[in-house]
Amino acid sequence: MLITIDHVLSKEQVRAFRNELDAAQWNDGAATAGTLAKNVKRNEQIDDASELCVRLGQQILRSLAQSPQFISAALPRTIYPPKFNRYAGGGTYGAHVDSALMYLPGSHQQMRTDVSATLFLAEPDEYEGGELEVEGPFGVQAVKLEAGDMVLYPSTSLHRVTPVTRGARVASFFWIESLVADEGERALLFDLDRSVQQLTPSMQPDDPRLVQLTGVYHNLLRRWART
Ligand code: NI
Repeated sequence: MLITIDHVLSKEQVRAFRNELDAAQWNDGAATAGTLAKNVKRNEQIDDASELCVRLGQQILRSLAQSPQFISAALPRTIYPPKFNRYAGGGTYGAHVDSALMYLPGSHQQMRTDVSATLFLAEPDEYEGGELEVEGPFGVQAVKLEAGDMVLYPSTSLHRVTPVTRGARVASFFWIESLVADEGERALLFDLDRSVQQLTPSMQPDDPRLVQLTGVYHNLLRRWART
């Protein structure tokens, strides 16, 4: 399931990010790709260890911590520190699946990637191409969001970024290890939580039906979550 989360960053925040990112030093993205991915990856990235990357990444994490929709969709256990990439001049990333396990930067701690995230930092009219195409059970879905909006997709899925033929596509990307590793279980929990949230305003808070549904959510989460 693809889930979009609007307004992770405000337009003002995006402008501030872009002022710094557009002036930053960008390096060849293939340097950090795995052996197979190296052949299909043509983009640029900012050094993960740079002060800029760390600082902007922390701002994104602070916004996400205040997003009930993100927390409900991803049920995050560990979030990889956000990275930044740029595609221009035909830049593209061919079909691949993200690595299953990653070391957190500067540590020996590994995390499993369950959910992949792309936060768009360029408006759709700034560039041509650059769609994120994700293969799912119902075919390929193409994603191109407004600056400040984010898409979450299962890390198990094959995905690609189509060539950028005009302008530049700037984005942040990162991964989440979820408390609920299974994509199907996570999707059910998200649907149930959304339904409860939608029902809540029209019901008394002590309505036994609402209390029971909320209980079902927590009892499924208790069953499926691995902390
Ligand atoms: Ni990827």
